[in-house]
Amino acid sequence: MQFVEAHGARIPQIGFGTMTLKGDICVQAVKTALQLGYRHLDTAWFYGNEKEVGEGMRQSGIKREDIFLTTKVRETHLEPDKFRQSLSESLANLRLPQVDLLLIHWNNKDIPFKVSIGALCKAKKDGFAKHVGVANFTSKMLDEAWAVTSEPLVCNQIEVHPFINQDKVIAASKKHGMAVVAYVPIARGKVPGAEALERIGKTHRKSAAQVSLRYLVQLGLVPIPRTANPAHMKENLDVFGFKLSDGEMAELKKLNANNMRVVNPPHAPVWDAA
Ligand SMILES: NC(=O)c1ccc[n+]([C@@H]2O[C@H](COP(=O)([O-])OP(=O)(O)OC[C@H]3O[C@@H](n4cnc5c(N)ncnc54)[C@H](OP(=O)(O)O)[C@@H]3O)[C@@H](O)[C@H]2O)c1
Repeated sequence: MQFVEAHGARIPQIGFGTMTLKGDICVQAVKTALQLGYRHLDTAWFYGNEKEVGEGMRQSGIKREDIFLTTKVRETHLEPDKFRQSLSESLANLRLPQVDLLLIHWNNKDIPFKVSIGALCKAKKDGFAKHVGVANFTSKMLDEAWAVTSEPLVCNQIEVHPFINQDKVIAASKKHGMAVVAYVPIARGKVPGAEALERIGKTHRKSAAQVSLRYLVQLGLVPIPRTANPAHMKENLDVFGFKLSDGEMAELKKLNANNMRVVNPPHAPVWDAA
């Protein structure tokens, strides 16, 4: 496993996404992923699976201190009282006193950054999160958040895969020394079958999913693919033993010409300004 370091956080460069994994499927998936070598888990209060993620961690037998665990507080809970309530519920669900990384899941434009980022920083000061960060922040939001934060924001978790152009927000995140955690890194199933990814994969004896993940790793990002399939879990971890050439990286970069976004809920910011 490789790591990406940002403001004192050491983040395993492949994470395990858990959105939509529920019940015993989630417990078994988290347990299996950890036993196969994953050391970075991504959940959220909103996913409704924190209990199962915590249970999978315990059943895996992997030591707590060897796992980098992220959870998130959603946009409806960014004022201090609600933030505290959401975080308490997350920790109770996970049966843990602290997470490694706590994120604001989505910004809420009606709540000033001083308030939301203040609540986030308090969670760290109170010892409930080792590190704090944000998700789905545009370049402008990052500048505004950094202007008021009392703690380093170690990451911006955003949608990145070969079909979306996130150059501007990636550069802005890196300018602030933040890690970029790439969600939907295989574009929710749109990567397998894509001609260029399949063709490049063949020359390396890798799948299209592995090419997409390797592409993101070579860009210095932290992909967090989700799967309930142990064969896919193994495949998605096996992306450190080969290297895409400069020509292949350039060809993959061109796939973002249509700037295809997979995740776009009603409360998303105006992405044109990303
Ligand atoms: N911060 C945010 O707002 C936000 C938003 C969205 C997602 N996320 C996080 O990012 C994680 C990943 O995103 P996602 O789950 O939406 O999408 P994703 O990881 O891009 O795609 C998941 C889909 O790809 C399939 N898959 C996985 N590995 C594969 C492989 N090697 N070959 C073929 N198919 C494969 C899975 O099916 P199988 O189960 O059949 O393998 C599943 O249907 C989420 O789970 C969540 O933790 C965060």
